[in-house]
Amino acid sequence: MKQAIERRKFIAAAAAATTASAAPAEIAAIDGGTPVRATPLKAGYWGTQYYDEKERAEVLDVLEAKSPFRWYGTQTPTKVLQFEKEFAARMQTKFALAVSSGTGALQCAMAAFEIGPGDEVILPAWTWHSCFNAVILAGALPVCAEIDDSFNIDPDSIERLITPHTKLIMAVHLQGNPCNMDRILAIASKHKIRVLEDCAQSAGASYRGKPLGSLGDIGIYSLQLNKTISAGEGGVVVTNDPALFERAARFHDLGGFRAPHQQVVGGAKLDWLFGANFRMNEFSGGVMLAQVRKLDRIVAAVRGNARLLYEGIRDLPNLKLRLLPDPQGELGSGVFLDFGNKSRCDRFLAAMKAENIPASKPGGSVILPTLPHIMAKKTIHPNWPSFHSERGKAIRYGPDTCPKTIDILGRYGGVLMDPKFLRQDLDDIVKAIRKVYPSA
Ligand SMILES: Cc1ncc(COP(=O)(O)O)c(C=O)c1O
Repeated sequence: MKQAIERRKFIAAAAAATTASAAPAEIAAIDGGTPVRATPLKAGYWGTQYYDEKERAEVLDVLEAKSPFRWYGTQTPTKVLQFEKEFAARMQTKFALAVSSGTGALQCAMAAFEIGPGDEVILPAWTWHSCFNAVILAGALPVCAEIDDSFNIDPDSIERLITPHTKLIMAVHLQGNPCNMDRILAIASKHKIRVLEDCAQSAGASYRGKPLGSLGDIGIYSLQLNKTISAGEGGVVVTNDPALFERAARFHDLGGFRAPHQQVVGGAKLDWLFGANFRMNEFSGGVMLAQVRKLDRIVAAVRGNARLLYEGIRDLPNLKLRLLPDPQGELGSGVFLDFGNKSRCDRFLAAMKAENIPASKPGGSVILPTLPHIMAKKTIHPNWPSFHSERGKAIRYGPDTCPKTIDILGRYGGVLMDPKFLRQDLDDIVKAIRKVYPSA
């Protein structure tokens, strides 16, 4: 009720601002007018802004027990295991494996899926290095698909890239926005291909009411500083499949499968495998235990702020927002507008900066096929298997392989959200957008 009144007040204020600006048009700061804010507004790191006595108590527990290793110590360690239990419950999956980074989580997922030489993995052309690197580290071939106006992988592009060697689709939910999972899951099931959801940038978001990470065969998350909840570094792998969990857990711990994890799945089914060490330590486990209990609070705050911003600009002429496959489920990490072309978008970004409201192009990812080391097909060793298959030899990367991706990322600009933005901050963002939004 209180929220509804607040919302009405906010819309009224935004409307008043429009009327005011419609009379004598306010001079934009970029043209010498007074900026909306005296000092720049800054979005912060979400999870760490919520650190309080809860995280402190968890870390102190580990220090005082002198028990920082997840499997044994002077006292029975509990933090990482408890975090896994609560994270799995929150994501509505049967199993969760805490690891040392999102990149490590991707590598565990590759091992769980038994991705290797000769296999092809379809991933979006616009995503983080880790996705491409995990495929290379597995010895497989990364095949880049175009994105669509959601900034996520375009289902039509996936269909065109499938071959008999395609083993996995990476559905990367970027900047808080769920992929079109209905289409991706339908394509995967038609071609009998597995789906990995990379939720590194979208922990806490959902698709049609289901937490991201729970829809595909495996979901992964990052707990690095820029993410919804954080211990500085860390990652999680989730799945409902006990066999995938066992393979991921073994890969993360040199190939072994410890008793507490055996208990979770009801016993080991495999022998010793090869693996690396991606274990999480108890300090991180403790911090993450406190953080996962705050996830819903953080998500509600950032989503609420993004919705207020949408409300405040909804009536702008010819407004085209980023495509949201599930507007209810997105995190609201940023509110992005399509300016039709790069130069208009750049003018908007510069004008917003002058108002002391930083606005940016979509971020947090790279256009993989345009990176020189990728165009040069560099790997770890000259005989690395990734580019030795027929298709690996033939594949080309480069800007001409992802023109749609480059075009989309050039014409969108927007404002990043923060769960701790105050009402005044949101008023200022709305005011600035309305002031400089190009009407032509
Ligand atoms: C889409 C995506 N996947 C994976 C990762 C890797 O996570 P980490 O930095 O924890 O290794 C990131 C990190 O930003 C990411 O954005």
